[in-house]
Amino acid sequence: MAKPKRRYICTECGSVLTRWQGQCPDCSQWNTLVEDAPETKFTAKHDLSSGGRAIAFESLDAPTKPLARRTTGLAEFDRALGGGLVPGCAILMGGEPGIGKSTLLLQAAAAIAKTGGDVVYVSGEEATGQVRMRAGRLGLADAPLKLAAATSVRDILTTLGKNGPPDLLVVDSIQTMHSDMIEGAPGTVSQVRASAFELIRYAKESGTCLVLVGHVTKDGNIAGPRVLEHMVDTVMSFEGERSHQYRILRSLKNRFGAVDEIGVFAMEGQGLKEVSNPSSLFLSGREEPIAGSAVFPAIEGTRPVLVEIQALIVRLQSGATPRRAVVGWDSGRLAMLLAVLESRCGLSFSTAEVYLNVAGGYRLSDPAADLAVAAALISALADKPLSADTIWLGEVSLSGEVRPVAHGALRLREAAKLGFTHGCGPVNGGREVKKLGYSDIGGVASLVDRVMASA
Ligand code: TYD
Ligand code: MG
Repeated sequence: MAKPKRRYICTECGSVLTRWQGQCPDCSQWNTLVEDAPETKFTAKHDLSSGGRAIAFESLDAPTKPLARRTTGLAEFDRALGGGLVPGCAILMGGEPGIGKSTLLLQAAAAIAKTGGDVVYVSGEEATGQVRMRAGRLGLADAPLKLAAATSVRDILTTLGKNGPPDLLVVDSIQTMHSDMIEGAPGTVSQVRASAFELIRYAKESGTCLVLVGHVTKDGNIAGPRVLEHMVDTVMSFEGERSHQYRILRSLKNRFGAVDEIGVFAMEGQGLKEVSNPSSLFLSGREEPIAGSAVFPAIEGTRPVLVEIQALIVRLQSGATPRRAVVGWDSGRLAMLLAVLESRCGLSFSTAEVYLNVAGGYRLSDPAADLAVAAALISALADKPLSADTIWLGEVSLSGEVRPVAHGALRLREAAKLGFTHGCGPVNGGREVKKLGYSDIGGVASLVDRVMASA
């Protein structure tokens, strides 16, 4: 028998090649080609226009029941999901190893089981004893959930077929699952895809809510093909620095809710604790005002979160190329802001190293943070602390103007709640908020004057 031809599939764009190479010729990504199962040869005639069953069409205005969402027992988890679990939904939970995915899911599974839900927790990574030990540590040993250590999708589905569909099925992780429908070891692209396909089909047919844990590769992608993300209804990412206590649960895709809500948790000795006031967490440890620190009211979904932006400027003596390092913000935006400050305000950063950090491992992508970053940079350059009770918000344009931002009033209200007395931002940006003193900043040039005058 002829040896089946090897084939390679790109995990980014799905291109199929017969030879491995470092770069995908179609999407130009590096190291994305992985070996896939050989292609099936069709022998039957490929005419799909007959022999199938007739599909019934429905009208769009047919009555539908409202989604019966089930709470996970963790309000922050529900919030990130858009209000709880929907029957028959398939969720992919991605995150780096050790970040706390298993802990989060065990806590949610136990809470659902305790409130009468039928929950099956299948671990392909840990023995049942290990999961039981973790449950003991979390104080959840008495939760009536059904625990199993298994990796065969057929065994799992056969068992569920006999016992009837549970309300929730957790599979930890999809990379350890094996489907005997196709060849290949667990964790290969085709195995991950086939196992996920069968589990998701079961969820859709039975109304079970399925949560698949997915490992994340070094560059932050969920290992396995991108198609896994297309197959599920919801993609969640559990993020944080392992050295820091808190974790953020984000939804990256959600067929049943908004994608911009986050859930915030702190990893403690007894599992994940919900953090309902994240601002206090990200601002912790601020005592004496120091130069280079500015507070920015970010928005996550519908929720304002105050974060601290820190800048450090180091003057260089030699003519070496100065470094610019950014953590938690976009380096391209920093370069743009530095250019605006140089050309519009005459400040010089060309002989200085610039370090920018968003405190607590928080990641910002909101352009409204421009003004706070600019204020932190000017404050660091001038070595003058900003007044500790002021928040900064506004988008800086290339011309040096400060532009209004979305949700201005919401942001200022949150700041007022946390004891800030003053807001600085675009003209008319603080009209709706009476509690907070507010100053207009027309352009970055007047920002410099303001920072110099503060302290
Ligand atoms: P885990 O849920 O196993 O991570 P993942 O499934 O994402 O790989 O969590 C691992 C880390 O969490 C582990 O390093 C220990 C820590 N941890 C706590 O700090 N407190 C706890 O109560 C538990 C259960 C874990
Ligand atoms: Mg785990």
